[in-house]
Amino acid sequence: MRKLYIAMMGLPARGKTTVSSKLKEGLEQEDLNVRIFNNGALRRQILGEASSRAEFYNPENRDGLEAREELARLNMERAQQFLAEDGDVAILDATNVSALRREVVQKTLTDHPLLWVECTNDDQDLVEASILRKTRLPEFASLSESEAVASFKRRIAYYEHIYTPFSQEPCWIRVDSLRNRIIDEQISHNIPYYVNIRDILVSDWIRNLYLVRHGQTLYNMEGRIGGDSELTQQGLEQAEALGRHFRGFSIPYIFTSTRRRSHQTATPIYQGQDHCTVKALSEFDEINAGICEHMRYEEIKHKWPNEYRRRQKDKYHYIYPEGEGYITMKERVDKGLRKALYLSGNAEALMIVGHQAINRMILSYFLFRRTEDVPFIYIPQDQYFHIVSTQKKKLFEQVRFTGRRERTGTKPD
Ligand code: F6P
Repeated sequence: MRKLYIAMMGLPARGKTTVSSKLKEGLEQEDLNVRIFNNGALRRQILGEASSRAEFYNPENRDGLEAREELARLNMERAQQFLAEDGDVAILDATNVSALRREVVQKTLTDHPLLWVECTNDDQDLVEASILRKTRLPEFASLSESEAVASFKRRIAYYEHIYTPFSQEPCWIRVDSLRNRIIDEQISHNIPYYVNIRDILVSDWIRNLYLVRHGQTLYNMEGRIGGDSELTQQGLEQAEALGRHFRGFSIPYIFTSTRRRSHQTATPIYQGQDHCTVKALSEFDEINAGICEHMRYEEIKHKWPNEYRRRQKDKYHYIYPEGEGYITMKERVDKGLRKALYLSGNAEALMIVGHQAINRMILSYFLFRRTEDVPFIYIPQDQYFHIVSTQKKKLFEQVRFTGRRERTGTKPD
Protein backbone atom coordinates (compact mmCIF):
# COMPACT_ATOMS: atom_id res chain seq x y z
CA MET A 1 0.00 0.00 0.00
CA ARG A 2 1.29 3.46 -0.84
CA LYS A 3 2.00 5.88 1.96
CA LEU A 4 1.42 9.60 2.12
CA TYR A 5 2.23 12.73 4.12
CA ILE A 6 -0.39 15.46 4.20
CA ALA A 7 0.96 18.75 5.56
CA MET A 8 -1.49 21.48 6.47
CA MET A 9 -0.85 25.16 5.82
CA GLY A 10 -2.72 28.29 6.90
CA LEU A 11 -2.92 31.12 9.38
CA PRO A 12 -4.23 30.35 12.87
CA ALA A 13 -8.02 30.03 13.26
CA ARG A 14 -8.65 29.05 9.63
CA GLY A 15 -10.01 25.54 10.23
CA LYS A 16 -6.84 23.43 9.77
CA THR A 17 -7.54 21.16 12.73
CA THR A 18 -11.13 20.58 11.64
CA VAL A 19 -10.02 19.76 8.09
CA SER A 20 -7.28 17.47 9.44
CA SER A 21 -9.70 15.42 11.47
CA LYS A 22 -12.15 15.31 8.58
CA LEU A 23 -9.35 13.91 6.41
CA LYS A 24 -8.42 11.41 9.09
CA GLU A 25 -11.96 10.16 9.52
CA GLY A 26 -12.60 10.03 5.78
CA LEU A 27 -9.39 8.15 5.00
CA GLU A 28 -9.94 5.74 7.87
CA GLN A 29 -13.18 4.79 6.18
CA GLU A 30 -10.99 3.58 3.32
CA ASP A 31 -9.33 1.22 5.82
CA LEU A 32 -6.21 3.32 6.06
CA ASN A 33 -4.20 3.82 9.21
CA VAL A 34 -4.08 7.59 9.70
CA ARG A 35 -2.58 9.71 12.46
CA ILE A 36 -2.50 13.46 13.07
CA PHE A 37 0.69 15.14 14.31
CA ASN A 38 -0.39 18.50 15.67
CA ASN A 39 2.38 21.00 16.45
CA GLY A 40 0.11 23.12 18.66
CA ALA A 41 -0.88 20.16 20.82
CA LEU A 42 2.77 19.10 21.14
CA ARG A 43 3.77 22.66 22.05
CA ARG A 44 1.10 22.87 24.76
CA GLN A 45 2.18 19.50 26.10
CA ILE A 46 5.91 20.30 26.17
CA LEU A 47 6.08 24.04 26.76
CA GLY A 48 2.73 24.77 28.42
CA GLU A 49 1.42 28.25 29.12
CA ALA A 50 4.75 30.00 28.48
CA SER A 51 4.30 29.39 24.76
CA SER A 52 0.86 31.01 24.62
CA ARG A 53 2.24 34.57 24.81
CA ALA A 54 2.14 36.46 21.53
CA GLU A 55 5.85 37.31 21.76
CA PHE A 56 6.68 33.62 21.49
CA TYR A 57 5.57 33.92 17.84
CA ASN A 58 7.48 37.07 17.02
CA PRO A 59 9.75 36.07 14.09
CA GLU A 60 12.49 38.19 15.71
CA ASN A 61 12.33 36.08 18.87
CA ARG A 62 15.12 33.55 18.31
CA ASP A 63 14.22 31.36 21.26
CA GLY A 64 10.57 31.13 20.22
CA LEU A 65 11.56 30.42 16.63
CA GLU A 66 13.98 27.69 17.61
CA ALA A 67 11.49 26.11 19.99
CA ARG A 68 8.86 26.00 17.24
CA GLU A 69 11.30 24.60 14.69
CA GLU A 70 12.26 21.94 17.20
CA LEU A 71 8.62 20.96 17.72
CA ALA A 72 8.13 20.78 13.95
CA ARG A 73 11.20 18.52 13.67
CA LEU A 74 9.94 16.30 16.45
CA ASN A 75 6.56 15.87 14.81
CA MET A 76 8.18 15.15 11.43
CA GLU A 77 10.30 12.45 13.04
CA ARG A 78 7.23 10.95 14.68
CA ALA A 79 5.33 11.06 11.38
CA GLN A 80 8.24 9.34 9.59
CA GLN A 81 8.35 6.71 12.28
CA PHE A 82 4.61 6.14 11.96
CA LEU A 83 4.84 5.62 8.20
CA ALA A 84 7.93 3.41 8.61
CA GLU A 85 5.81 1.15 10.80
CA ASP A 86 2.19 0.38 9.95
CA GLY A 87 0.91 3.90 9.27
CA ASP A 88 -0.54 4.77 5.84
CA VAL A 89 -1.19 8.50 6.03
CA ALA A 90 0.49 10.99 8.40
CA ILE A 91 -1.19 14.38 8.69
CA LEU A 92 1.05 17.20 9.93
CA ASP A 93 -1.23 19.81 11.42
CA ALA A 94 0.69 23.09 11.73
CA THR A 95 0.60 26.60 10.27
CA ASN A 96 3.60 26.10 7.91
CA VAL A 97 2.95 29.55 6.43
CA SER A 98 6.56 30.52 5.68
CA ALA A 99 8.29 29.32 2.53
CA LEU A 100 11.33 28.55 4.65
CA ARG A 101 9.48 26.19 6.96
CA ARG A 102 7.84 24.45 4.01
CA GLU A 103 11.21 24.00 2.37
CA VAL A 104 12.47 22.24 5.51
CA VAL A 105 9.39 19.99 5.57
CA GLN A 106 9.71 19.27 1.86
CA LYS A 107 13.42 18.40 2.25
CA THR A 108 12.85 16.22 5.33
CA LEU A 109 9.84 14.19 4.30
CA THR A 110 11.30 12.63 1.17
CA ASP A 111 10.55 8.97 1.82
CA HIS A 112 6.92 9.23 0.63
CA PRO A 113 4.86 11.65 -1.46
CA LEU A 114 3.81 14.88 0.27
CA LEU A 115 0.61 16.81 -0.32
CA TRP A 116 0.09 20.32 1.05
CA VAL A 117 -3.42 21.42 2.04
CA GLU A 118 -3.93 25.11 2.69
CA CYS A 119 -6.99 26.24 4.66
CA THR A 120 -8.33 29.73 4.04
CA ASN A 121 -11.35 31.58 5.31
CA ASP A 122 -12.03 35.14 4.23
CA ASP A 123 -15.01 35.74 6.51
CA GLN A 124 -13.78 38.17 9.16
CA ASP A 125 -16.80 37.49 11.35
CA LEU A 126 -15.93 33.85 11.52
CA VAL A 127 -12.25 34.41 12.10
CA GLU A 128 -13.25 36.62 15.06
CA ALA A 129 -15.60 33.95 16.39
CA SER A 130 -12.99 31.24 16.08
CA ILE A 131 -10.42 33.42 17.82
CA LEU A 132 -12.89 33.73 20.67
CA ARG A 133 -13.21 29.95 20.75
CA LYS A 134 -9.42 29.52 20.81
CA THR A 135 -9.06 31.89 23.74
CA ARG A 136 -11.10 29.49 25.87
CA LEU A 137 -8.22 26.99 25.70
CA PRO A 138 -6.54 26.31 29.07
CA GLU A 139 -3.36 28.04 27.85
CA PHE A 140 -5.20 31.41 28.11
CA ALA A 141 -6.67 30.67 31.52
CA SER A 142 -4.65 33.38 33.28
CA LEU A 143 -5.80 36.13 30.87
CA SER A 144 -9.12 37.94 30.68
CA GLU A 145 -11.15 37.34 27.52
CA SER A 146 -10.17 40.65 25.94
CA GLU A 147 -6.48 40.16 26.81
CA ALA A 148 -6.56 36.67 25.35
CA VAL A 149 -8.24 37.89 22.13
CA ALA A 150 -5.69 40.70 21.78
CA SER A 151 -2.83 38.28 22.38
CA PHE A 152 -4.14 35.77 19.84
CA LYS A 153 -4.59 38.53 17.27
CA ARG A 154 -0.99 39.61 17.77
CA ARG A 155 0.03 36.00 17.27
CA ILE A 156 -1.91 35.91 13.98
CA ALA A 157 -0.28 39.19 12.90
CA TYR A 158 3.17 37.62 13.38
CA TYR A 159 2.15 34.71 11.20
CA GLU A 160 0.73 37.08 8.56
CA HIS A 161 4.09 38.74 8.48
CA ILE A 162 5.84 35.57 7.33
CA TYR A 163 3.00 34.13 5.22
CA THR A 164 3.98 33.25 1.67
CA PRO A 165 1.66 31.46 -0.75
CA PHE A 166 2.64 28.17 -2.36
CA SER A 167 5.07 28.49 -5.25
CA GLN A 168 7.91 25.93 -5.05
CA GLU A 169 5.82 23.12 -3.59
CA PRO A 170 5.08 20.44 -6.22
CA CYS A 171 1.69 19.27 -4.89
CA TRP A 172 -0.87 21.40 -3.12
CA ILE A 173 -4.55 22.10 -2.73
CA ARG A 174 -6.02 25.37 -1.45
CA VAL A 175 -9.34 24.94 0.33
CA ASP A 176 -12.03 27.36 1.43
CA SER A 177 -12.61 25.74 4.81
CA LEU A 178 -15.85 27.61 5.44
CA ARG A 179 -17.59 26.49 2.27
CA ASN A 180 -15.81 23.16 1.74
CA ARG A 181 -14.56 24.21 -1.65
CA ILE A 182 -11.33 23.62 -3.51
CA ILE A 183 -10.21 27.05 -4.67
CA ASP A 184 -7.05 26.08 -6.49
CA GLU A 185 -4.65 23.17 -6.80
CA GLN A 186 -1.46 22.02 -8.40
CA ILE A 187 -0.48 18.39 -8.58
CA SER A 188 2.77 17.65 -10.38
CA HIS A 189 3.18 14.01 -9.53
CA ASN A 190 1.14 11.06 -8.42
CA ILE A 191 -0.44 11.46 -4.99
CA PRO A 192 -1.93 8.34 -3.41
CA TYR A 193 -5.62 8.57 -2.44
CA TYR A 194 -5.85 11.90 -4.23
CA VAL A 195 -9.38 11.37 -5.55
CA ASN A 196 -10.58 10.33 -2.08
CA ILE A 197 -8.92 13.36 -0.51
CA ARG A 198 -10.61 15.74 -2.94
CA ASP A 199 -13.98 14.19 -2.23
CA ILE A 200 -13.46 14.40 1.54
CA LEU A 201 -12.39 18.04 1.28
CA VAL A 202 -15.54 19.10 -0.56
CA SER A 203 -17.92 17.01 1.56
CA ASP A 204 -19.98 18.24 4.48
CA TRP A 205 -18.87 16.71 7.75
CA ILE A 206 -21.87 16.85 10.01
CA ARG A 207 -21.68 14.09 12.56
CA ASN A 208 -24.95 14.98 14.29
CA LEU A 209 -27.07 18.03 13.75
CA TYR A 210 -30.19 18.38 15.89
CA LEU A 211 -32.54 20.88 14.35
CA VAL A 212 -35.14 22.01 16.85
CA ARG A 213 -37.94 24.54 16.58
CA HIS A 214 -38.67 26.75 19.58
CA GLY A 215 -41.61 25.77 21.79
CA GLN A 216 -45.05 27.31 21.57
CA THR A 217 -45.20 31.07 22.11
CA LEU A 218 -47.94 33.52 22.96
CA TYR A 219 -47.94 34.66 19.34
CA ASN A 220 -48.19 31.05 18.11
CA MET A 221 -51.23 30.62 20.31
CA GLU A 222 -52.84 33.80 19.03
CA GLY A 223 -51.89 32.96 15.46
CA ARG A 224 -49.67 36.06 15.12
CA ILE A 225 -46.50 36.09 13.09
CA GLY A 226 -43.03 37.47 13.82
CA GLY A 227 -42.35 39.51 16.94
CA ASP A 228 -40.36 38.45 19.95
CA SER A 229 -42.91 36.87 22.24
CA GLU A 230 -42.11 34.48 25.06
CA LEU A 231 -42.94 30.82 25.47
CA THR A 232 -46.35 29.85 26.86
CA GLN A 233 -46.69 27.30 29.65
CA GLN A 234 -46.95 24.64 26.96
CA GLY A 235 -43.84 26.05 25.25
CA LEU A 236 -41.93 25.93 28.53
CA GLU A 237 -43.02 22.33 29.01
CA GLN A 238 -41.83 21.49 25.50
CA ALA A 239 -38.47 23.08 26.33
CA GLU A 240 -38.29 21.04 29.55
CA ALA A 241 -39.16 17.88 27.62
CA LEU A 242 -36.35 18.67 25.16
CA GLY A 243 -33.99 19.17 28.10
CA ARG A 244 -34.97 15.77 29.52
CA HIS A 245 -34.76 14.10 26.12
CA PHE A 246 -31.26 15.36 25.38
CA ARG A 247 -29.83 14.76 28.85
CA GLY A 248 -28.18 11.53 27.78
CA PHE A 249 -26.69 13.10 24.64
CA SER A 250 -23.54 15.17 24.47
CA ILE A 251 -24.29 18.48 22.74
CA PRO A 252 -21.24 20.72 23.01
CA TYR A 253 -22.67 23.51 20.82
CA ILE A 254 -26.13 25.05 20.68
CA PHE A 255 -26.89 27.86 18.25
CA THR A 256 -29.99 29.93 18.79
CA SER A 257 -31.44 32.98 17.08
CA THR A 258 -31.38 36.29 18.92
CA ARG A 259 -35.09 35.89 19.75
CA ARG A 260 -36.31 35.14 23.26
CA ARG A 261 -38.34 32.09 22.23
CA SER A 262 -35.27 30.43 20.78
CA HIS A 263 -33.10 31.11 23.81
CA GLN A 264 -35.82 30.08 26.25
CA THR A 265 -36.19 26.76 24.42
CA ALA A 266 -32.44 26.16 24.50
CA THR A 267 -32.13 26.89 28.24
CA PRO A 268 -33.22 23.53 29.74
CA ILE A 269 -31.20 21.75 27.06
CA TYR A 270 -27.89 23.41 27.85
CA GLN A 271 -28.58 23.30 31.57
CA GLY A 272 -28.67 19.53 31.24
CA GLN A 273 -25.24 19.41 29.56
CA ASP A 274 -21.85 19.24 31.25
CA HIS A 275 -20.01 21.33 28.66
CA CYS A 276 -22.03 23.34 26.25
CA THR A 277 -21.34 26.59 24.40
CA VAL A 278 -24.44 28.55 23.46
CA LYS A 279 -24.21 31.16 20.76
CA ALA A 280 -26.95 33.37 19.34
CA LEU A 281 -26.67 34.00 15.60
CA SER A 282 -28.86 36.68 14.02
CA GLU A 283 -28.68 34.66 10.79
CA PHE A 284 -31.17 32.31 12.46
CA ASP A 285 -33.74 35.03 13.30
CA GLU A 286 -37.19 34.26 11.93
CA ILE A 287 -38.28 35.69 8.58
CA ASN A 288 -38.99 39.40 8.89
CA ALA A 289 -42.61 39.86 7.81
CA GLY A 290 -42.16 43.65 7.37
CA ILE A 291 -45.50 45.47 7.38
CA CYS A 292 -47.23 42.22 8.39
CA GLU A 293 -45.21 41.60 11.57
CA HIS A 294 -47.42 40.89 14.62
CA MET A 295 -50.53 40.26 12.49
CA ARG A 296 -52.71 37.17 12.05
CA TYR A 297 -52.95 35.71 8.54
CA GLU A 298 -56.70 36.58 8.56
CA GLU A 299 -55.87 40.20 9.38
CA ILE A 300 -53.31 40.34 6.59
CA LYS A 301 -55.95 38.98 4.20
CA HIS A 302 -58.25 41.86 5.04
CA LYS A 303 -55.78 44.67 5.50
CA TRP A 304 -53.39 43.80 2.65
CA PRO A 305 -55.45 41.62 0.26
CA ASN A 306 -53.04 42.07 -2.63
CA GLU A 307 -50.06 41.14 -0.54
CA TYR A 308 -51.91 38.13 0.80
CA ARG A 309 -52.85 36.97 -2.71
CA ARG A 310 -49.37 37.49 -4.06
CA ARG A 311 -47.90 35.40 -1.25
CA GLN A 312 -50.49 32.67 -1.79
CA LYS A 313 -49.55 32.54 -5.46
CA ASP A 314 -45.81 32.22 -5.04
CA LYS A 315 -44.79 31.88 -1.41
CA TYR A 316 -41.12 31.18 -2.08
CA HIS A 317 -40.46 34.27 -4.19
CA TYR A 318 -42.81 36.63 -2.34
CA ILE A 319 -41.05 39.33 -0.31
CA TYR A 320 -42.94 41.11 2.50
CA PRO A 321 -42.87 44.90 1.96
CA GLU A 322 -40.17 46.27 4.27
CA GLY A 323 -39.32 42.68 5.17
CA GLU A 324 -37.99 39.45 3.71
CA GLY A 325 -39.09 36.47 1.68
CA TYR A 326 -37.84 32.89 1.61
CA ILE A 327 -35.81 33.77 -1.43
CA THR A 328 -34.05 36.71 0.21
CA MET A 329 -33.46 34.77 3.43
CA LYS A 330 -31.57 32.00 1.74
CA GLU A 331 -28.19 33.67 1.77
CA ARG A 332 -28.22 34.59 5.45
CA VAL A 333 -29.54 31.20 6.58
CA ASP A 334 -26.86 29.43 4.50
CA LYS A 335 -24.30 31.67 6.10
CA GLY A 336 -25.67 30.92 9.58
CA LEU A 337 -25.46 27.20 8.91
CA ARG A 338 -21.88 27.47 7.61
CA LYS A 339 -20.98 29.57 10.66
CA ALA A 340 -22.51 27.05 13.08
CA LEU A 341 -20.72 24.15 11.39
CA TYR A 342 -17.42 26.00 11.27
CA LEU A 343 -17.60 27.14 14.88
CA SER A 344 -18.52 23.72 16.19
CA GLY A 345 -15.45 22.32 14.40
CA ASN A 346 -14.89 18.67 15.17
CA ALA A 347 -17.71 18.41 17.67
CA GLU A 348 -19.65 15.17 17.82
CA ALA A 349 -22.91 17.11 17.75
CA LEU A 350 -24.43 20.54 17.40
CA MET A 351 -27.94 21.84 17.81
CA ILE A 352 -29.77 24.70 16.17
CA VAL A 353 -32.87 26.05 17.87
CA GLY A 354 -34.57 27.87 15.06
CA HIS A 355 -37.93 28.99 13.78
CA GLN A 356 -40.46 27.74 11.27
CA ALA A 357 -39.19 29.49 8.13
CA ILE A 358 -35.54 29.21 9.22
CA ASN A 359 -35.76 25.48 9.84
CA ARG A 360 -37.46 24.99 6.48
CA MET A 361 -34.53 26.71 4.77
CA ILE A 362 -32.01 24.61 6.70
CA LEU A 363 -33.88 21.41 5.91
CA SER A 364 -34.12 22.28 2.23
CA TYR A 365 -30.34 22.15 2.13
CA PHE A 366 -30.34 18.50 3.23
CA LEU A 367 -33.55 17.34 1.65
CA PHE A 368 -32.94 18.85 -1.79
CA ARG A 369 -36.55 19.99 -1.95
CA ARG A 370 -37.83 21.91 -4.95
CA THR A 371 -37.62 25.57 -4.01
CA GLU A 372 -41.36 26.15 -4.46
CA ASP A 373 -42.05 23.42 -1.87
CA VAL A 374 -39.70 24.73 0.81
CA PRO A 375 -42.25 27.13 2.44
CA PHE A 376 -44.57 24.20 3.03
CA ILE A 377 -42.26 21.83 4.88
CA TYR A 378 -43.92 20.84 8.15
CA ILE A 379 -41.94 22.06 11.15
CA PRO A 380 -43.57 20.70 14.31
CA GLN A 381 -42.88 21.92 17.83
CA ASP A 382 -43.01 18.48 19.42
CA GLN A 383 -40.44 16.85 17.13
CA TYR A 384 -36.94 17.64 15.96
CA PHE A 385 -34.83 16.62 13.01
CA HIS A 386 -31.66 14.62 13.40
CA ILE A 387 -29.28 14.93 10.47
CA VAL A 388 -25.99 13.21 9.70
CA SER A 389 -24.18 14.15 6.52
CA THR A 390 -20.66 12.95 5.88
CA GLN A 391 -18.98 11.70 2.74
CA LYS A 392 -20.21 8.14 3.31
CA LYS A 393 -23.20 8.52 5.57
CA LYS A 394 -26.47 10.37 5.13
CA LEU A 395 -29.11 10.10 7.80
CA PHE A 396 -32.29 12.04 8.22
CA GLU A 397 -34.81 11.29 10.93
CA GLN A 398 -37.67 13.11 12.55
CA VAL A 399 -37.92 12.35 16.27
CA ARG A 400 -40.80 12.98 18.65
CA PHE A 401 -39.60 14.08 22.08
CA THR A 402 -42.92 14.44 23.88
CA GLY A 403 -44.93 11.51 25.12
CA ARG A 404 -48.23 12.55 23.68
CA ARG A 405 -49.07 13.68 20.21
CA GLU A 406 -49.38 17.44 20.38
CA ARG A 407 -50.40 19.73 17.60
CA THR A 408 -49.13 23.19 18.33
CA GLY A 409 -48.07 26.24 16.44
CA THR A 410 -49.71 28.67 14.13
CA LYS A 411 -52.64 27.64 12.02
CA PRO A 412 -51.39 26.96 8.53
CA ASP A 413 -51.59 29.88 6.17
O1 F6P B 1 -46.11 31.53 12.75
C1 F6P B 1 -44.83 31.37 13.24
C2 F6P B 1 -43.81 31.85 12.26
O2 F6P B 1 -42.55 31.51 12.76
C3 F6P B 1 -43.89 33.35 11.95
O3 F6P B 1 -43.16 34.18 12.83
C4 F6P B 1 -43.37 33.42 10.54
O4 F6P B 1 -43.72 34.61 9.88
C5 F6P B 1 -44.00 32.19 9.97
O5 F6P B 1 -43.99 31.23 10.98
C6 F6P B 1 -43.31 31.64 8.76
O6 F6P B 1 -44.11 30.67 8.17
P1 F6P B 1 -44.92 30.95 6.82
O7 F6P B 1 -43.83 31.27 5.83
O8 F6P B 1 -45.63 29.67 6.55
O9 F6P B 1 -45.83 32.12 6.99
